[in-house]
Amino acid sequence: MTTYNIAIDGPAGAGKSTIARKAAEKLGFIYVDTGAMYRAMALYLLRKGIDRNDEKAIEAACREMEISLQYCDNVQQVLLNGENVSGLIRTEEVSSMTSSISVYGPVRRKLLELQRELARTRNVIMDGRDIGTCVLPDAQTKIYLTASSHVRALRRFKELEEKGQMCNLEEIEQDIIERDYRDMHRDIAPLKQAADALVIDSSQMTIGQVVEAILEAAGKRGLEDKG
Ligand code: DC
Repeated sequence: MTTYNIAIDGPAGAGKSTIARKAAEKLGFIYVDTGAMYRAMALYLLRKGIDRNDEKAIEAACREMEISLQYCDNVQQVLLNGENVSGLIRTEEVSSMTSSISVYGPVRRKLLELQRELARTRNVIMDGRDIGTCVLPDAQTKIYLTASSHVRALRRFKELEEKGQMCNLEEIEQDIIERDYRDMHRDIAPLKQAADALVIDSSQMTIGQVVEAILEAAGKRGLEDKG
């Protein structure tokens, strides 16, 4: 069976997950949020009190944890050693730990095969940092979704405000800039645009416009022919 794969990469806060989820719904594909997998690993390390700089301990911990995905009504749930941790992985503490530990080879290798297996067996829209460049180099459609750090910080600020959480816009933007730097400058699988990716800057676009642009890109590359 040949599957159709759409890879979406880009920096934190560019809108990848919202957009990928909507596009997946329209296409009847499954949405694979790879960041959630890295986040579940970070949660495990935080719970164990393992230092983010202790590469040896992180490598050993990788052997103890099992990450898997389940879909409930087409919504991805991430399981850590069988426990559904989807509701526990979106804190700032987990975000920062995830960005730090995703530089390590054993962490990345642990998830690579699982991600490829999903794409081999299902039509997927998969988002992350290295999907078009490393995980699915043969994806039929590749998107690099970005937005200015200021716009991304503002989006995050509004999100937190709506949840009633106190936050500081400058601090959020600074944190985003630091995460971008770490994600783009690590040795293994850094965030970068695949040579054959379509670049979409969502700074001045609505969610609907970005979804349309992705569907159009996928359509142009023969999606309709595959039924
Ligand atoms: O997409 P996200 O914000 O949930 O990702 C959290 C962190 O995980 C991000 O800072 C970098 C890392 N990540 C990665 O290294 N590779 C991926 N494919 C997805 C996420």
